[in-house]
Parts: sequence; C-alpha cells; structure tokens
Amino acid sequence: MEKITIRKVLKKYQRGERLVMVTAYDYPTAKLVDQAGVDMILVGDSVGMVVLGYPSSNQVTMKDMLHHVSAVARANPRAMVIGDMPFGSYEASNEEAVRNAVELVRAGAEAVKLEGGQEVVDRVRAIIKAGIPVMGHLGLTPQKRHLLGGYRLRGKTEQEAKELLEDAKALEDAGAFAIVIEYVKADVAKKITESVNIPTICIGAGPHCSGQVLVLHDILGLSEMRPPFAKVYFDCSKAIREAVQKFAEEVREGKFPSEEYYR
Ligand code: KIV
Repeated sequence: MEKITIRKVLKKYQRGERLVMVTAYDYPTAKLVDQAGVDMILVGDSVGMVVLGYPSSNQVTMKDMLHHVSAVARANPRAMVIGDMPFGSYEASNEEAVRNAVELVRAGAEAVKLEGGQEVVDRVRAIIKAGIPVMGHLGLTPQKRHLLGGYRLRGKTEQEAKELLEDAKALEDAGAFAIVIEYVKADVAKKITESVNIPTICIGAGPHCSGQVLVLHDILGLSEMRPPFAKVYFDCSKAIREAVQKFAEEVREGKFPSEEYYR
C-alpha cells in the first residue's frame, strides 16, 4: 500500500472521500491503527492524560512529544504522522515554534498540529516557510481551556460562530493544509467546512465535516475521563482486566506455566 502524503490527503478531500484520523502514541498501536487503514495518525498531546496520567494536556512537554512521535514513526506507518505541538512550544516566538516543529519532524512527524486561530497565523506561516505542513485546531482548544472558561461547547453564540469562521479562514490563508474542529456546534462546523477549501477533521462537531478524529484510548474504552462525544467501539479495559485476572489466578493455583510453556 502506498504511503499517504499531504498530496494524497488533499486528493482524497477533493474527491469527497471522508478522511479518518486517530491518535496513537506508541509502536504497537501505531502498527495496529495503520493496519486498520486510517489516513492520518495524530500523536496528540492527549498522550498526557490518556497515557502519562497528567491532569491535563498543559503538562505535556516537547520531551514527551518527541519520545512518543519517534515511537510511532518507528512503526513506519503508511498513514501520515502528525505531531502535536505541546503547550509552551510555539507561543513565545516564530523562531521557537520553528525550532520545535523541526524537532518533531526530526523525530518522525510528517506534519505538525497547533491550537489557535488568528493569533497563531504568524507561527503557521513561519513553520510552513521552514518546509513543514501545519494542521490547525479550532473550537475547544484544550491547551487554552483556562482562557476559554473550561472544556465547553464552542460556537453557541453568533459572535463565537463568527470568530470561529474568521479563524478558519485565517488558518487557510496562512497555508494550513487541514483544520481540526473540536467540540463546536454542528451547524457552525458545517458552515466552516463549506466556507474553506481545506479539509476539516472534526471531533465532537457533528457529521458535516471532511473527516473525523477520535482519541484511540476513548475508542478502546481505556481512558478514565471520556468526553461526551467519544464513542467506545470496544471495551479493552474489561478484556485487559479479565486476561490479567486469569493469569494471576493460574499462577496462584499453580496452573501456569503448564508444560507447553517451559522446557
Ligand atoms: O491531542 C489530541 O488527541 C487532539 C485531538 C483531540 C484532536 O488534539
């Protein structure tokens, strides 16, 4: 199967094919989601909550991201690998943003994602100028949740909807190749999708987008705190608990290892 590049993503979008993105943070799950046929793997800063046990994504560092991006890249996926820029890695200056985006690419990312609208277009332009594709992220932008007043649905007022649309257009204008729209009213996400000529990849923003993204640990029932818009497709937490309980039981009863497991 041929490698999915930015050109392939945009061709699929132009053909009207819905794009599929999912998060992964390590080598085995990157292999598995790639075998499942996703278009893009996002090494999201959600790693902080769902894998590292941090209270929010604000604790995630560049060191964390580089560690996880390189693990995913070693799986050599066919899917395009997007590395999330963590909180504090792009706010201070264009130079710092470019330096950190370069580090993510050196670790194996094929594009970077950063949160924000009109306030980050200078960063987006600078990173693209350095030769790195950028994915935007609008709506509920968890890194800025203190400013937004918590994890709340965006686009509920006319003013918010207008600002989101302006943000999307500004990101497109700055050269972003796609935009994640998170937890935004479905009619607002639809309007944005119809108003820009780049793919919108939605999460908790309804069906009228160019594609959808979910956090892998939500899909698998492995996250402690699941947002209301995440669908659990299989409860792995139950399967893991039961498998380990069985192992513990067999050890305690002297049933493991049985003859076939030793020489
Ligand atoms: O970090 C992440 O997983 C994300 C997705 C929720 C889009 O940004």
